[in-house]
Amino acid sequence: MPDSETGPDTEPRPTPAPAPAPTSASVSASVSDDVLRPHAEQEYAHELALLAAHDDRPRPPGWRLSPWAVTTYLLGGELPDGSEITPKYIGPRRLVEVAVATLATDRALLLLGVPGTAKTWMSEHLAAAVSGDSTLLVQGTAGTPEEAVRYGWNYARLLAEGPSERALVESPLMRAMRHGMVARVEELTRMPGDVQDTLITLLSEKTLPVPELNTEVQARRGFTVIATANDRDRGVNELSSALRRRFNTVVLPLPESEADEVEIVSRRVARLGRSLELPEAPAGLEEIRRVVTVFRELRAGVTADGRTRLKSPSGTLSTAEAISVVTSGLALAAHFGDGVLRAPDIAGGLVGAVVQDPASDRVVWQEYLETVVRDRPDWADFYRACREVS
Ligand SMILES: Nc1ncnc2c1ncn2[C@@H]1O[C@H](COP(=O)(O)OP(=O)(O)O)[C@@H](O)[C@H]1O
Ligand SMILES: [Mg+2]
Repeated sequence: MPDSETGPDTEPRPTPAPAPAPTSASVSASVSDDVLRPHAEQEYAHELALLAAHDDRPRPPGWRLSPWAVTTYLLGGELPDGSEITPKYIGPRRLVEVAVATLATDRALLLLGVPGTAKTWMSEHLAAAVSGDSTLLVQGTAGTPEEAVRYGWNYARLLAEGPSERALVESPLMRAMRHGMVARVEELTRMPGDVQDTLITLLSEKTLPVPELNTEVQARRGFTVIATANDRDRGVNELSSALRRRFNTVVLPLPESEADEVEIVSRRVARLGRSLELPEAPAGLEEIRRVVTVFRELRAGVTADGRTRLKSPSGTLSTAEAISVVTSGLALAAHFGDGVLRAPDIAGGLVGAVVQDPASDRVVWQEYLETVVRDRPDWADFYRACREVS
């Protein structure tokens, strides 16, 4: 449908939409410091404000920032006044540009990839940068009901008053349509097929009918959907071709080089460590490199020098898992060690991540330990620590 038909003036709304949208972004100022995991728009409110202040490029209708500023928010950069925007996503620039450009069209965005490739992470940051709110989220599971995509009812009200606007409970998608914002759908392929189908009408018509009230909600400009799906889930509930046509797909790759992956892990760990108020652990880089090397070699099934073939364990050994191995190690180092991240702090977590299947993975791990790790001259401490927990 042409965009000009969905302008704010022509939209028949059953009740006046409050402006600005009463979303989490508007209460972010009151979020206290002890929130365990602030939303992206809260944690990076400062950077988003800086970008908005410097952003003189055209913003698509409903967007808080221009596509250029959204891309800079994701990839990092320096503003004219010298202030720094930290990189959130480390990977090919083109891929981020395609994702951002897609959001400015009438097509939805599907982020596809193996676990731990930052699909959820990127979707949250995109929503935060484009709409200032990353919380309009539907989690896809085998039990996701249709109401999570359309709307539900407050049954007490419904019984007392009959169907009314007051008795209607908006889904995150309905809310995003009303306010012209980004809605997120996590793990799209895990949702039952008929719930996925509900999305088709919504994405193609940009309208959500409410027959009980004899009305409909027409999406305002700025509305779009970012969905994520796992490569390995393929076949659970294969996306119908009708739904797939509504999406531009961007495949998120595993980090290309070891240096990239080390940077991702170091940055994320430093940030997590700060928010958990772990004491700073200065010389952790060496151990981070080892975790990343082990993960990459086992994932690839060959050592970094290309000389030794390896068997791969059953787990994914994703970057996200490397981050959690190192973070746990830091907690050990901070509370039970001398504050410096050392091999014994990471050995336990690392072996736990590699050996998921106690039988087959243990064989793979032992072989790697004895044929690769043992022979590395500067890995003696790491070898010993791993032997102790293996
Ligand atoms: N290329 C990358 N750039 C930045 N962070 C990344 C990258 N790959 C992984 N990460 C980190 O790993 C984690 C990925 O987790 P998540 O987004 O939940 O993965 P997915 O949804 O793909 O399974 C995030 O904490 C993110 O910081
Ligand atoms: Mg995810």
